[in-house]
Amino acid sequence: MTIRPLIAGNWKMNGTAASLDEAKQLAAALAESPAACDVALCPPATLLAQMAWVLKGSAILIGAQDCHGKDSGAYTGDIAAPMLADAGASLVILGHSERRTYHGETDAEVAAKVEAALWAGLKPIICVGETLEQRQADQTLQVLTSQIAGSVPASLADAAFAVAYEPCWAIGTGLTPTLDQIAQAHAAIRAALPGQGGAVAPILYGGSVKPDNAGEILKIAQVGGALVGGASLKASDFLGIILAL
Ligand code: 13P
Repeated sequence: MTIRPLIAGNWKMNGTAASLDEAKQLAAALAESPAACDVALCPPATLLAQMAWVLKGSAILIGAQDCHGKDSGAYTGDIAAPMLADAGASLVILGHSERRTYHGETDAEVAAKVEAALWAGLKPIICVGETLEQRQADQTLQVLTSQIAGSVPASLADAAFAVAYEPCWAIGTGLTPTLDQIAQAHAAIRAALPGQGGAVAPILYGGSVKPDNAGEILKIAQVGGALVGGASLKASDFLGIILAL
């Protein structure tokens, strides 16, 4: 049983058409030095179609950062999974802690979005992670197990998906858990995932991954790649992480 690692860049709410140059540079660099894993860029929805055009024929996959749980309807401002697929996405990040925190997304809503993504043919990257208070209260593994139970629908037992372990306190802070803490969290997540899909889903680590710490994090046996925020905005930094694998 082999798990194909995935390194995905989450641009969050950053980027305009000018930023597509970074995507082009990354594609050119990876054409010269191919990655030992799948590589994805997840730009804001406004750039999906243009990025799909610019990266046509390259090895870089394109992901969205969220989708609605329904296929269409009167939901002003929201974007449905089939629309993202139509714009060129093949992946979608779901349940990111910034969505859970700033938009109050619950596990049940994340699970509904996961189902919607699957129906549209998108591979979900489902995010889980504890807050600093939860870590300090020694609740990390319990929180992760409960988020997996609530956000990963049973239908994923036979599907292709990825999970990202992103401790909230490590996102954008320059702080990272110890290598042991990452290994423990990933083992707990693996044990909680359903079926064959869960056995082969790459479990990414996310939270302050940079070119200089990527090597040691990606070497942890249970880590199947990375979900990278800030350092994915510059092609040279993101390339340094990808080539650290
Ligand atoms: P940073 O890499 O900027 O810490 O962000 C991590 C993240 O939230 C990726 O989804």
